[in-house]
Amino acid sequence: MIVGVPKETKAEEYRVSLTPDKVDLLVKNGHRVLVESHAGEGAGFPDRHFEAVGAVIEKEAARVFDASDMIVKVKEPQPLEYGFFHEDQILFTYLHLAPQPELTQSLLDSRVAAIAYETVQSDDGELPLLYPMSEIAGKLAPFVAARLLQNIAGGPGKLLGRVPGAKPSNMVIVGGGTVGFNASLVAQSVGADVTIVDVNLERLRYISLITHGAIDTVVSTPANVADLLSTADVVVGAVLVPGASAPKVVTRDMIGVMREGSLIIDVAIDQGGSVEDIRPTSHKKPTYVEGGVTRYAVPNMPGIVGNTSSVSLSNATYPYVLDLANGGMEACVQNGGPLSRGVNTYRGHVTHEAVARALGFDYVPLKEVSA
Ligand SMILES: NC(=O)c1ccc[n+]([C@@H]2O[C@H](COP(=O)([O-])OP(=O)(O)OC[C@H]3O[C@@H](n4cnc5c(N)ncnc54)[C@H](O)[C@@H]3O)[C@@H](O)[C@H]2O)c1
Repeated sequence: MIVGVPKETKAEEYRVSLTPDKVDLLVKNGHRVLVESHAGEGAGFPDRHFEAVGAVIEKEAARVFDASDMIVKVKEPQPLEYGFFHEDQILFTYLHLAPQPELTQSLLDSRVAAIAYETVQSDDGELPLLYPMSEIAGKLAPFVAARLLQNIAGGPGKLLGRVPGAKPSNMVIVGGGTVGFNASLVAQSVGADVTIVDVNLERLRYISLITHGAIDTVVSTPANVADLLSTADVVVGAVLVPGASAPKVVTRDMIGVMREGSLIIDVAIDQGGSVEDIRPTSHKKPTYVEGGVTRYAVPNMPGIVGNTSSVSLSNATYPYVLDLANGGMEACVQNGGPLSRGVNTYRGHVTHEAVARALGFDYVPLKEVSA
């Protein structure tokens, strides 16, 4: 198979989908890999590292998209890439289609087989390809908070952590999955007061047990969230319902009770956001203030730690990339395993039920399209 690795085009995105060690393995398995020139530069992998393991460097993005049987990317295609896909091609990347009808329509029009990392689901319900970037976004969130709480960033001049004699900052994390738990560990390690809110009681039990009660846990009800928000310095939005738009757990009314100078970091913005009315921001202009509360809603947080994120992402995606390259799309469909659950569009149909529901598009089960 010909596997294409284009340079990412989303603003302030430094990741590359496959690192040279993974390209090496693909080449050794008999596949041809086309890498767009400079694709790995932001992640610390210049073209010569890819050439050294047998990849072909292509100057033009269009040439990579055109010649490849499978495109392996990091972020969802940007508008300038919408026209690049074609039938009988596989696109393997983060897609986050639920809040993006135009992108979805372009994938349907091109009839590409689009497999979304975030919806690849193992038999036990885990999301193995969302996990690595959620770990990183979660670990980054407290660093973002620590900076934005400072006076020079327009914040209230509070230290995230703890010093003797002064109250520590208070962080409320809505959603105790991978993002939420990783954020809690980093924030708690510097002494912040951390509370995790989740609908999943089992998950709260696990967090409480494994942290020996150092993280407070509260069941997610509107009353509990509103109560916690009234004293929060930082709120981290980290909920997920796989494939669907994020539930708006933090409502406008709840934000109304937040203190002046407090901060919301909505990590779930890539799925539309867990905060009512929040708008996506970018690494270049990461925040805006409304009603005295600062919002940070960058959809590609791990993109700014390009090296670690590329290594971590490709560690997780590589076995699936190899399966697709070796077996092709039909084998993936027939296997009915984790990859098949990740197929969002195939031959002009939306084949992921939650994605179709979120967008109001028709849903056609994958096996029916294939038949
Ligand atoms: N902005 C970024 O750069 C970035 C990076 C990585 C992940 N993400 C996003 O972060 C979000 C969280 O990802 P994750 O991997 O932690 O997901 P996860 O599935 O591990 O955790 C989500 C948690 O949300 C909880 N939840 C669902 N509905 C809830 C509700 N109404 N109230 C409270 N909790 C609720 C679930 O029980 C679960 O524990 C996703 O939208 C993901 O796409 C964003």
